[in-house]
Amino acid sequence: MKKIVVATSGASGVGLAQKFINNLPKGYECHFIKTENSDIVNLKEGANVIMHEESDIAASIASGSFGVDMMAIIPTSMNTLAKISNAIADNLVCRAASVMIKERKTLLLAPREMPFSPIDLENMQKLSQIGVIIAPPILGYYAQIQTLEQMEDFLIGKWYDQLGIEHNLFQRWGE
Ligand SMILES: Cc1cc2nc3c(=O)[nH]c(=O)nc-3n(C[C@H](O)[C@H](O)[C@H](O)COP(=O)(O)O)c2cc1C
Repeated sequence: MKKIVVATSGASGVGLAQKFINNLPKGYECHFIKTENSDIVNLKEGANVIMHEESDIAASIASGSFGVDMMAIIPTSMNTLAKISNAIADNLVCRAASVMIKERKTLLLAPREMPFSPIDLENMQKLSQIGVIIAPPILGYYAQIQTLEQMEDFLIGKWYDQLGIEHNLFQRWGE
């Protein structure tokens, strides 16, 4: 069983995190960090979703010894991005992310802002250079997408691809 942490932050598109978790295949123990902004995410604690509070800095996932395999922050606010890129760990989202970085584990950020400021881009470049996956929710137009739901499936599929999670959420080019 692989351990994955999923968190949201105060950017728009929080519902994508819900869809990301709901499409996870079997074999993943999912830890969801409930933030002030996750109120619209409707997840029930089930066999494979363990809830954590953003303020619970003593949660299992705050320690490298717990052995989390991967983490995704969907969406990532510019505030959370800036904190992570400066090793600020003042809540569970930022602490769990800094654990991924120090343990050399996979961290995926989905920054959502439009347009990005030069400071946002600098923060993304810094993180990208140390192996953090910067994967904003950018629309794709080649997978015969006709609805918003299909576009969201496409985004989630692209994130799964980056994390090595198997899926069948969109038609691949050439298929
Ligand atoms: C309606 C609304 C939408 C927002 N959308 C974004 C956004 O898309 N991206 C972003 O970086 N910040 C956005 N913000 C600002 C963040 O919520 C704000 O910077 C907050 O401090 C982020 O906190 P967090 O990083 O701890 O979640 C939005 C704020 C509001 C009220």
